[in-house]
Amino acid sequence: MDAPRATTSAPVTTGAVDHGPEPATARETTMQAIVQDRYGGPDVLELREIDKPVPKDNEVLVRVHAAGLHRGDWHVMTGLPYLIRIVVPTLGLRKPKIPVLGMDVAGQVEAVGSNVTRFQPGDAVFGWCDGSFAEYACAGEDHFTPKPANLSFEQAAAVPISGFAALQGVRDQGEVQAGQKVLVIGAAGAVGSFGVQLAKAFGAEVTGVGSTTQVELVRSIGADDVIDYTREDVTDGARHWDVILDTAGRRPLSQLRRALTPKGTLVIVGGEGAGRWLGGFTRNLRAPLLSRFVGQRLRMLASKPRQEDLQTLRELIEAGKLTPLIARTYPLGEVPEAIRQLEAGHTRGKIVIAV
Ligand SMILES: NC(=O)c1ccc[n+]([C@@H]2O[C@H](COP(=O)([O-])OP(=O)(O)OC[C@H]3O[C@@H](n4cnc5c(N)ncnc54)[C@H](OP(=O)(O)O)[C@@H]3O)[C@@H](O)[C@H]2O)c1
Repeated sequence: MDAPRATTSAPVTTGAVDHGPEPATARETTMQAIVQDRYGGPDVLELREIDKPVPKDNEVLVRVHAAGLHRGDWHVMTGLPYLIRIVVPTLGLRKPKIPVLGMDVAGQVEAVGSNVTRFQPGDAVFGWCDGSFAEYACAGEDHFTPKPANLSFEQAAAVPISGFAALQGVRDQGEVQAGQKVLVIGAAGAVGSFGVQLAKAFGAEVTGVGSTTQVELVRSIGADDVIDYTREDVTDGARHWDVILDTAGRRPLSQLRRALTPKGTLVIVGGEGAGRWLGGFTRNLRAPLLSRFVGQRLRMLASKPRQEDLQTLRELIEAGKLTPLIARTYPLGEVPEAIRQLEAGHTRGKIVIAV
């Protein structure tokens, strides 16, 4: 039996005589995608031919040109720490519920559902979805916004998920104000490199923390000062910051508090490398509890994709205040290699998959 045709629910009128639906060839209804049937390392990922998604009434089908890769994809691929299989509804307990990996997406609208009003075929968009490591991806129209005019598809795909984390960390949890001193730990990474630029855009004086090879890069994205953590301990109590955005290193809360001003704000974003059950989440959970008993504000970030934040990011990009850093671009078939690079740490901005 033929698979259903993956065409627009609101067909584009060409003015030509309608001879009825053409027979669907396999290639029109299928696509290449990176698929996983089980949790594990990069070896569980396979490039396969699967059914092309069909947009529902409120959905947009995008021809993916590029997809950003970030730590969240690694967590989805491995199902680690186990805690996320319980708290994230789209993850299965024993195997992934959504077989295609990838969340960040940039591409061109291929087809739209009948209730979609903001987009039409051909529009260049960026946003988030489930399953962007594929030739086509589908999501509600509120997941997309027009691609910034000054970015390539690859640059645009680097923005959404890490950009949301940085924006919500700096603006909502950090409440960064002009003139404040802000420390960004993991300043060359996906979230950190946006965090440095956003804190600068909010008028802060920014210090970035990274390893020796990242110092120049962190300075180049606008940090006023850079600390090489392999040579200097940022938490030795010699210097203090109003806001700390902590994305890497898993320094204990007690240590991070030494680098905060007495009424300062610590935002725990994340950090890799802890146990298989809770991962780095113990700090995220402990921070708000401890915050009740101390003068400093200790907060955890649980970032969420939001349409209004996607628009804010686009405006900042078009105003020249935010530029995504691309560490390296890989073709779709090399997602496992891309993830191995991510696993090695020391990322500089975002790794992008060109489709
Ligand atoms: N809470 C949320 O909502 C949320 C959202 C997004 C991401 N996250 C989490 O946030 C963390 C960061 O994500 P990401 O995508 O930005 O990761 P990433 O791209 O891998 O960046 C991490 C950066 O930290 C640096 N780093 C490593 N060890 C360090 C140390 N000891 N001190 C200072 N810097 C160090 C790395 O390079 P160098 O070592 O070379 O400097 C790298 O540039 C991850 O754990 C991720 O899961 C949380």
